[in-house]
Amino acid sequence: MNKTKIAVLISGRGSNLKALIEACAQPDFPAEIALVISNKKDAGGLKYAEEAGITYKFIDHKAFPKREAFDMAIHEEVIVSGAQLICLAGFMRIISAEFITLWKNKIINIHPSLLPAFKGVDTHKRALEEGCKYHGCTVHFVVPDVDSGPIIAQSVVEVRDDDTEETLAARVLEKEHEIYPRSLRLVVENKYLVKGHRVETWG
Ligand code: GAR
Repeated sequence: MNKTKIAVLISGRGSNLKALIEACAQPDFPAEIALVISNKKDAGGLKYAEEAGITYKFIDHKAFPKREAFDMAIHEEVIVSGAQLICLAGFMRIISAEFITLWKNKIINIHPSLLPAFKGVDTHKRALEEGCKYHGCTVHFVVPDVDSGPIIAQSVVEVRDDDTEETLAARVLEKEHEIYPRSLRLVVENKYLVKGHRVETWG
């Protein structure tokens, strides 16, 4: 099977990266991970790349004078890897509009809330504070506005009366691990819908 090469950008634990690695290991999955990049040297997720024999790189954002320069370093590595699509998996850096324009409709992100609710950080804490009865996660295309962009998939969890930030986060994370590989497949196979319509931006 001819698989589409992807790059995954991380900053930390890497459980979503692990879910993508496991999906890509399936013979009938249409994508393979060509490169993992972390902006944190000690990101736990790098060990998953290493164990799977995937090329990984640490690129320190602090070594660059400007956001755009850091992003261009990522761009060059992704080009060299042959990846055609970029998955953000807990990558906690805001990406410049220049980079997003270069990779228009080719960057997807997972966010731990039902967007457009709770953009930004501390999503589980804020959902509990607001008394939400439902919470969840979203995979979307990346556009210059943070945590915005066409939604590819969402998954919902019911908020329990005795939930803490940790218990709620754990249930949402399980859903993240389901919808991220599913969304990646939809994008690579050009089968995703935006507002109910097929959009021909990929492939
Ligand atoms: C995940 O919950 C992901 O949705 C979130 O960071 C966590 C990374 O976990 N991403 C964001 O908040 C992006 N705005 P992981 O490193 O175990 O995949």
